[in-house]
Amino acid sequence: MAERAAIILAAGVSSRMNTQLPKVLHEVCGRPMLAYVLDACREVGITKIFVVVGFGADQVERYFAEAKNITWVQQQERSGTAHAVMRCKEHLKDFKGETMILCGDGPLVRAETLTTLIGKHQMEQAAATLATAVLEDPTGYGRIIRDRYGNIQGIVEDTDCTREQLAITEINPSYYLFNNRILFEAVEQVKPDNVKKEYYLTDAVSHIIATGHKVVAVTAVQPEEAMGVNSRAQLSVASKIMQKRIQQELMDHGVTIVDPDNTWIDARAKIGQDTVIEPFTYIHGEVKIGRACRIGPFAYLRPGTILESDVVLGVFTEVKNSSMADGVRVRHHSFIGDATVGKNVNVGAGSITANYDGHNVNRTQIGDNCYIGSGAVLVAPLALKDGTHVNAGAVVTQNNAEQLQQKEK
Ligand code: UD1
Ligand code: CA
Repeated sequence: MAERAAIILAAGVSSRMNTQLPKVLHEVCGRPMLAYVLDACREVGITKIFVVVGFGADQVERYFAEAKNITWVQQQERSGTAHAVMRCKEHLKDFKGETMILCGDGPLVRAETLTTLIGKHQMEQAAATLATAVLEDPTGYGRIIRDRYGNIQGIVEDTDCTREQLAITEINPSYYLFNNRILFEAVEQVKPDNVKKEYYLTDAVSHIIATGHKVVAVTAVQPEEAMGVNSRAQLSVASKIMQKRIQQELMDHGVTIVDPDNTWIDARAKIGQDTVIEPFTYIHGEVKIGRACRIGPFAYLRPGTILESDVVLGVFTEVKNSSMADGVRVRHHSFIGDATVGKNVNVGAGSITANYDGHNVNRTQIGDNCYIGSGAVLVAPLALKDGTHVNAGAVVTQNNAEQLQQKEK
């Protein structure tokens, strides 16, 4: 089996996004776009990954500081996708395997498609293989040019297309696999003779064909996977598509989502079997929900929420950085932040943890079987022992269990 490396292009300044943030750090369902592209590479077994960064390079590198097997490659001038690939030459010049190239602004890439791409490349013993998509509206994408026998002749960028070429609906989503040696020979030949005066990777494909090597394409990319995010509007469309995937996977794992269109679940959230998510629920960040819980309508779960099983969170309940044991009920209008809530605790309507004293965020610990009456304010730091009964309207500032030492900034 050929050894495989990947180059991910992520250096571009995103003028169309009108942003100070590097484009690939913009989030889709709670994770930066680049994270999804890295996942797809890893899922098909690629561990040698080169990410070309430029605009905001330190921010990108900092974000992914913990990620493994990434070599960061700097591209200061950003004169086009071929130029970006060229920057990897010093690392890959002696590499004998195959090199996959993907764009950091294509978060919808799926590992299954890359597997098809790899399979086609091997079966055809090709020098380069493209995975393509057919779109109803191909505007903005490079068009795949084929001769009348269906052989690939090249890729023409939208801005360089003739009127006839603009009508072509088969496009280049920028999923490529190359014989590494042939790739770098071709990339060196690329000239910036196009409307934008950039070095185009797509022109390298034409050079490979011109030198008599075999280039093939497989129409394996679904339209909803082809999108490259160049604008905020496209970012929102990509997020919608990703949200559908996240919810589909949860439903396949036994979670009921009553109204998928009016529910938002972060890509990092984990939800157990037979849990029901009612409409207008927003789950943000690394949230863990166990079995047979009922969440919403109108619930807001924030990072660090951990619910065991049979927990009920009702209307306008916000939970952050808190854990709740089996059988907890917080049915109406509550804020539970930085708390540890024991088994079978009932929190009445409008009760809150006052977790911030103006300087520090403090924790609240509520033991098992406690009853917190409506409209109670639990002023943290606070510890309530098992079975505590808090009257409605109480402002609780005194511990009845051992003082908690934990403090957070
Ligand atoms: C590119 C393709 C186009 C394809 C589309 C799919 C080229 C010339 N065109 O167009 O055929 O249909 O993607 O979404 O390749 N980048 C760098 N350095 C640079 C320039 C770009 O790293 O100097 C990175 C960008 O950050 C981005 C990716 O390469 O992640 C693609 O660049 P972008 O400018 O978005 O290309 P498109 O015009 O979308
Ligand atoms: Ca793009």
